[in-house]
Amino acid sequence: MKHLIDPMDLSVEEIDDILALAQDIIADHDKYREVCKGKKLATLFFEPSTRTRLSFEAAMMELGGNVLGFSSADSSSAAKGESVGDTVRVVGCYADIIAMRHPKEGAPMRAAMVSPVPIINAGDGGHNHPTQTLTDLLTIQREKGRLNDFTIGVCGDLKFGRTVHSLIKALSRYEGIRFILISPNELKVPDYIITEIFEKHNIEYREVTSMEEVMPELDILYMTRVQRERFFNEADYVRLKDTYILDKNKLKDAKEDLSILHPLPRVNEISVSVDDDPRACYFRQALNGKYVRMALIMRLLGVNV
Ligand code: CP
Repeated sequence: MKHLIDPMDLSVEEIDDILALAQDIIADHDKYREVCKGKKLATLFFEPSTRTRLSFEAAMMELGGNVLGFSSADSSSAAKGESVGDTVRVVGCYADIIAMRHPKEGAPMRAAMVSPVPIINAGDGGHNHPTQTLTDLLTIQREKGRLNDFTIGVCGDLKFGRTVHSLIKALSRYEGIRFILISPNELKVPDYIITEIFEKHNIEYREVTSMEEVMPELDILYMTRVQRERFFNEADYVRLKDTYILDKNKLKDAKEDLSILHPLPRVNEISVSVDDDPRACYFRQALNGKYVRMALIMRLLGVNV
């Protein structure tokens, strides 16, 4: 039985296989409509979500399966003090696979240690979000036609941003990726990303504070939200939240074929005036999330066509 807790749980070959399956699902949706008939996905969300939970549920429904679960800790017996371990042991009696989001880093790992069914980490605190990474990789592949040889600017909250941490880890295994890390000094990537990923694997990276200065170099701009829920101090959040606001003017020196990604939700960091720009990929990215989760569910359940 395989779980997906960290993007590094998947080899490059397994990632490429999931992306290829997602591309086939997009091309021939009808072929997959009944492949998970009789199977159940439980979505255990101890933290808010729109895209991840609903795209998982839509994915299972479009594969012919069923879904059950909860969308907040308050509506589960976690509110009475039940542990994550006990929760998944029980839900594993009702479902064939579990997608779990939890504010505590490591909670899905703990769940995987005792679960009788595959666990998918749907986001744990500021740590990892591997299915967002699969979504991002599918989006880059579909927009750029490749997963190598590009310069990616990652902008915003790089300290607490789990989507950023997971994406950097995954992309570090592809050839010719140059990273430009754009953040205020207070929100730089954690040290372990620098030492364990960039330095250990001799990957080109640069830390800057100005988005405009590096815009002409970028093939991909990955914007992220400054996350109020991860700050201990409201004053720090208020001071940093609008550090980067991408608007049409800031794109004037960008490449014609720049791809702008964002895991969403956005707050202020991308002006709605950018949404009509063909380089804005973030709503296509949200759709890709459903297809890649369909592929992931199939692979973790061992379902073939
Ligand atoms: N990208 C993402 O994880 O969005 P949600 O928080 O809405 O699931």
